[in-house]
Amino acid sequence: MNPVKPAAAAEEATREGRETLTVVDNRTGKQYELPIRNNTIRALDLRQIKLNDNDFGMMSYDPAFSNTALCKSSITFIDGDAGILRYRGYPIEELAEKSTYLETAYLILHGELPTSQELEEWTYHITHHTFIHESIKKFLDGFHYDAHPMGMMISTIAALSTFYPDAKDIFNAESRRKQTWRLIGKMPTLAAFAYRHSLGMPYAYPDNDLSYTGNFLNMLFKTTELTYRPNPTLERALDVLFILHADHEQNCSATAMRNVGSSHVDPYSATAAATAALYGPLHGGANEEVLRMLTEIGSVQRVPEYIKRVKAGEKKLMGFGHRIYKNYDPRARIIKRIADQVFDLMGRNPLLDIALECERIALEDDYFVKRRLYPNVDFYTGLIYQTMGFPVMMFPVLFAIPRTSGWIAQWEEMLLDPEQKIARPRQVYLGQEERSYVPIEERTRHLSRSQSVGGL
Ligand code: ACO
Repeated sequence: MNPVKPAAAAEEATREGRETLTVVDNRTGKQYELPIRNNTIRALDLRQIKLNDNDFGMMSYDPAFSNTALCKSSITFIDGDAGILRYRGYPIEELAEKSTYLETAYLILHGELPTSQELEEWTYHITHHTFIHESIKKFLDGFHYDAHPMGMMISTIAALSTFYPDAKDIFNAESRRKQTWRLIGKMPTLAAFAYRHSLGMPYAYPDNDLSYTGNFLNMLFKTTELTYRPNPTLERALDVLFILHADHEQNCSATAMRNVGSSHVDPYSATAAATAALYGPLHGGANEEVLRMLTEIGSVQRVPEYIKRVKAGEKKLMGFGHRIYKNYDPRARIIKRIADQVFDLMGRNPLLDIALECERIALEDDYFVKRRLYPNVDFYTGLIYQTMGFPVMMFPVLFAIPRTSGWIAQWEEMLLDPEQKIARPRQVYLGQEERSYVPIEERTRHLSRSQSVGGL
């Protein structure tokens, strides 16, 4: 093999204006030129890099997909370094100020803002799919009074697939449209019913004269009044929070939606999987954890002591840090403004001062500055939700409702992308070579996992 001069190869490629990456395999001395498109190389192009003809070929190793693009997408743009979030090109700040959740959901799903007539029809369809089958209520009744509402949501969303077998027809645009109305329409109803079940209160049925969030508040909080009138400040605050949570490109739950959906299962089953992914404390469960953390800290004076424990690696500062944002999460800024409006109306949440002190110290402290840890969307949402009267267990549910529009958009984009197929990652196998079965009487000891599996 000729000696390779990678620098020369790269210079030549640059001279000729080629959009390629030159790779030299120092094991063999061979050189490969891989096409670059959209600033990425195709992982499959690495497969040609082989030691010999029997070699499977090279793969990329990327636990947690930290640097792997799973898809091409036109839905949501994030620039984590600059703190930018846009849905279909529209900055989140403008949508939060001027749009409504249902209009934003339409935008996310259809790619364009609706005309008045389109918005009217869209709103009509969502509003007229808010009822759930009476049998779903029976499932809910089977849960313990203290069942976590996310567990109830995951189960009842999955159960919806049994009521709508037409949802299996995933390549029929009309069917997808209908399941979209149903899912977005029914999520608040399932959530509110789960909440009422935990209180032992009778379910409050949807009121089609109210807005999406107004009706949700109605189903949650209506008691003996004939007609529930939502407070407009709280209704709008919730609507803005829903806008902020509508999509966030390829996060854990969107990836779950795409991966599960790639097996061509119906959208209810895929949404149940996405909701399960959102439930975890590192994802949508973080707002719940923030409240627990602030309660545990207990007072402004105890914040420095807690931060010390975080820096010692004993605790995490929940609501801080993000895989993508290495700057202030743009949603957190908007949420801080909403918090002020809600506190003006409902009274200041006593945990707010603790949160502000955590933020103040963290933004100045070298540990957080060096790691670029800033407040994320969850840091203040929990405080708002609590002030609005939601129990802590409902927080991730309040995330799942609006995220449904994003999940469906991600699912549909995946389905219609001719390059996509069933998700099936590779692994780097580091286990035992082939060996013969050992009869039980001849076994003397077991290898622990750490002894048998090497690190990579
Ligand atoms: N508190 C203290 N230290 C932190 C925190 C935190 N909240 N987040 C990250 N770090 C530290 C890590 O310990 C690590 O330190 P090291 O380099 O000394 O080992 C460094 O910062 C980098 O952290 P990673 O875990 O590598 O960052 P990653 O991108 O994998 O994690 C995550 C992102 C999961 C969000 C993380 O920051 C975290 O756990 N935050 C708290 C939970 C949270 O708020 N989640 C909500 C995310 S937003 C959402 O899902 C809607």
